[in-house]
Amino acid sequence: MTESAIEVDRLSKRFGDVHALDEVSLTVPKGSVCGLLGHNGAGKTTLVNMLSTLLLPTGGTATVAGFDVVREGAQVRRRIGLTGQFASVDENLSGFHNLVLIARLLGASKRDARTRAGELLDVMGLVEAGQRLAKTYSGGMRRRLDLAASLVGKPELIFLDEPTTGLDPSARITMWQLVKRLVREGTTVLLTTQLLDEAEQLADSITLLSQGKVVVSGTPAELKARVGKRTVTITLASEADIPAATTALLDVGLPPQLPGGRPGSDAAETEEAEPELSVPAESPADLARVVRALDDADVTPRRLALVEPRLDDVYLAFTHPAPSAA
Ligand SMILES: Nc1ncnc2c1ncn2[C@@H]1O[C@H](COP(=O)(O)OP(=O)(O)OP(=O)(O)O)[C@@H](O)[C@H]1O
Ligand SMILES: [Mg+2]
Repeated sequence: MTESAIEVDRLSKRFGDVHALDEVSLTVPKGSVCGLLGHNGAGKTTLVNMLSTLLLPTGGTATVAGFDVVREGAQVRRRIGLTGQFASVDENLSGFHNLVLIARLLGASKRDARTRAGELLDVMGLVEAGQRLAKTYSGGMRRRLDLAASLVGKPELIFLDEPTTGLDPSARITMWQLVKRLVREGTTVLLTTQLLDEAEQLADSITLLSQGKVVVSGTPAELKARVGKRTVTITLASEADIPAATTALLDVGLPPQLPGGRPGSDAAETEEAEPELSVPAESPADLARVVRALDDADVTPRRLALVEPRLDDVYLAFTHPAPSAA
């Protein structure tokens, strides 16, 4: 049996009439990464803030590292690191001094504080920048310093609230590598994100929140299996091929759709768009059937691809689907 690092049971938070969080339940096994996904205002930060004892629940219970977040807040705080959505380091101190200060606040001796600060700058790739004021840091450096700040006390659990929002792709990948390293060392991570590829990269399990409620949860693979079917995408050489291809596919029982799930066979809407059809595929054998059907109809596609379901499909299926952009 896996021990849980976090147990949340029907946790709620109301701000006046706003149900920011509404009876959310959630279990995070030790050493795993839980990704909280959801639109702006879904309740992600509210949940993180209650688990890190910054905010009191209005209903339900939660334990972190086995301690109740309301009755045993001090015990919880001793075991967690928090990197907030809105950063918390002192701009007018150097990276090094920020970390030393936090270590001192946590009770380390001067010498131990300096050692810990040095170690963390090293892990975060900030040794060179360590003596510069934090306000001179780039966004990526700043986030790494935030993460370092949350690690000073060697927490068994860290909360990362949108750790890579606003970072460029390479800074984001660096951040992911740092988080993966912490996980390998046994740290449990609860992370909120708007980025589906971030959840896919890092999370062992995903909980999707919408309007304060859990709408679905599971491993990335489970969630994708629930909504997405594989599809074969057929890019045709010309729009003139659409009718022949459609008929051939219908004849073999593989009804095609225009990509995006829009039914019918109206011509592609934008001038530059290459004509595409997609066919739901139950198995790779369906790809072979598509090829044969097109070949029999003398249609030579420009490209054929077997497309796996994406986490985006899950997100859209379980939250409010955006109005069709067509
Ligand atoms: N202090 C507060 N007072 C009143 N309402 C609040 C307060 N904090 C949050 N809320 C409301 O609670 C809801 C959830 O907010 P929360 O910040 O948890 O969302 P979020 O999922 O973190 O969103 P984002 O992706 O924008 O960070 C929102 O409707 C928000 O307006
Ligand atoms: Mg938030």
